[in-house]
Amino acid sequence: MTVWIIKPAEHHIPAISEICSKGWKQTVEGKLSAEYQEQNIAFWYDHKKIREDLEAGFYTHVAVVDSDVTGVIGGGMTGPDVAEVFVLYMDEDYRYQGIGRRLLEALTELQKEQGATEQWVSVQEDNQRGIPFYEARGFVYQGKKSETTITGEEQVSLRYLRKI
Ligand SMILES: CC(C)(COP(=O)(O)OP(=O)(O)OC[C@H]1O[C@@H](n2cnc3c(N)ncnc32)[C@H](O)[C@@H]1OP(=O)(O)O)[C@@H](O)C(=O)NCCC(=O)NCCS
Repeated sequence: MTVWIIKPAEHHIPAISEICSKGWKQTVEGKLSAEYQEQNIAFWYDHKKIREDLEAGFYTHVAVVDSDVTGVIGGGMTGPDVAEVFVLYMDEDYRYQGIGRRLLEALTELQKEQGATEQWVSVQEDNQRGIPFYEARGFVYQGKKSETTITGEEQVSLRYLRKI
């Protein structure tokens, strides 16, 4: 299987939307209401919003196999030497084959070029599909962050950090 890690393009938008919507939903299932899930997906993964975020450089790489997008990563700088992973999702059929690791490596190289020496990520509390991946990549738990969603629910995320 040949996997290409490339910059996302306009024609990747429908696949980015589908992979992120499904992946994000899995991370909050049983935690947040269906109403909030729908609202959040409609906001972030609407095709127009993804197009704007692509243009703003929010999504940095996609993983492509046989011209199909199988995963996506996005991130940015939040301080002169501080970087953040904003999104990272793999299509379920392509997980645990080392592709997520390659996406994270590509984003990390880019962020190092931009001056980053540390990289942060937020993971939904109890997300066993994401936490082991980040811990295996050297991220260390720093603390919890609690927010109230627009539907009035408490959303708890865990903050992880690694030196890069
Ligand atoms: C998290 C995710 C992007 C990782 O991508 P992936 O392609 O499946 O992961 P990889 O195959 O590259 O895994 C790389 C490493 O992490 C480990 N790992 C990944 N997921 C793991 C899990 N759930 N449990 C244990 N180890 C895991 C692998 O063993 C591997 O370790 P190694 O390189 O030391 O052998 C992907 O599994 C996913 O989309 N998960 C659901 C969505 C999610 O939780 N995203 C994160 C939101 S913040």
